Amino acid sequence: MLKLQQEQRRVKGILASMVDAVLVVDTQARISLANKPAEDLFLVSEGDLEGKRLEDINCDEEICSMIHQVLTTGKEVFTETTIKPTTQIFRVRVVPIKDPDDQVEAAVAVFHDVTEARNFDQMRSGFVANVSHELRTPLTSIKGFVETLLDGAMENSDTCRRFLSIIEAETDRLTRLIDDLLSLSSIESKERTLHLQPVCLVRSMRSIMNIMGPQISEKNLHVEFIYPQNLPRIHADEDLLGQVLINLLDNAIKYTPPHGKIIIRCRRRDSRIIISFTDTGVGIPRESLPRVFERFYRVDKARSRKYGGTGLGLAIVKHIVESHGGEVFVDSEVGRGSTFGASFLAV
Ligand SMILES: Nc1ncnc2c1ncn2[C@@H]1O[C@H](COP(=O)(O)OP(=O)(O)OP(=O)(O)O)[C@@H](O)[C@H]1O
Ligand SMILES: [Mg+2]
Repeated sequence: MLKLQQEQRRVKGILASMVDAVLVVDTQARISLANKPAEDLFLVSEGDLEGKRLEDINCDEEICSMIHQVLTTGKEVFTETTIKPTTQIFRVRVVPIKDPDDQVEAAVAVFHDVTEARNFDQMRSGFVANVSHELRTPLTSIKGFVETLLDGAMENSDTCRRFLSIIEAETDRLTRLIDDLLSLSSIESKERTLHLQPVCLVRSMRSIMNIMGPQISEKNLHVEFIYPQNLPRIHADEDLLGQVLINLLDNAIKYTPPHGKIIIRCRRRDSRIIISFTDTGVGIPRESLPRVFERFYRVDKARSRKYGGTGLGLAIVKHIVESHGGEVFVDSEVGRGSTFGASFLAV
């Protein structure tokens, strides 16, 4: 008797230490053992499963019939299913326990949560679909122009030059897309270690403004840069910080019509330094705001494409800023303009 109690304690101990939910159901369809994750799964309080009949608990119909099937046939079954009311996906395995005469004594149901793995699979296949689509678009266009050239358009040197420059632009787009993907994956995989050092944000911003000078004057944009005296330096990887500033300024330029205005502001808030870019551009609809930092998300695909956009710029910005312990933000109104910004830790 003592030995039996000891054995039961052991079984309970093992079940309690499991992450998976476990139910043991006897031949009368009565629950003889259940662990804490099982109680959480069926939304009952401690000890409320044991002794109950399967029909009396809030058990999924499919699971119930699987358990009955195992109790009658003695053969194990498994499935993958969402268990209501949760949205979690479980791999459920039900196996029989048999006595020495090979008679079924009980059924053990184990619920293994595979939600994260399945969501990851879905995200990955979505990403692959996106990348393939983005790669195919310029390739289709290149192939089309090459075919037209070979079909005779080559004879006319003006047409030939025009088509070749389109092909060149599409090739540049492909290169940019691949560069952006590589830079995103290297930041994500943490394979690139951050070379953090004290950086003067104002100086970095000035040098980016110089680089973008030609685009700014071409569109006759008025750019103002406002910052307080004695702004502390920030902890940053200078190259990556440059990518953030260039992407945000590039967007402000791209999505603002000629003669518009861009205000770049640096300010201090407690231990953080915030930089923001406010433009008088096309703006972003409210429902798109939560999505603009997603990879490949573009409010207006045609407009973005026209400027050679890949839709990865802001995803890269978000990754870099977050890997520095900072945050990104956006506010915008259609037709009035947008403000994009990022915070960094002050030295
Ligand atoms: N300042 C802005 N004003 C209006 N819309 C913007 C602004 N910045 C970004 N957007 C919107 O957010 C989308 C995503 O921006 P993101 O920088 O990630 O991609 P992109 O500019 O299209 O391409 P690229 O990869 O070349 O930067 C843009 O396509 C655009 O619709
Ligand atoms: Mg961009």
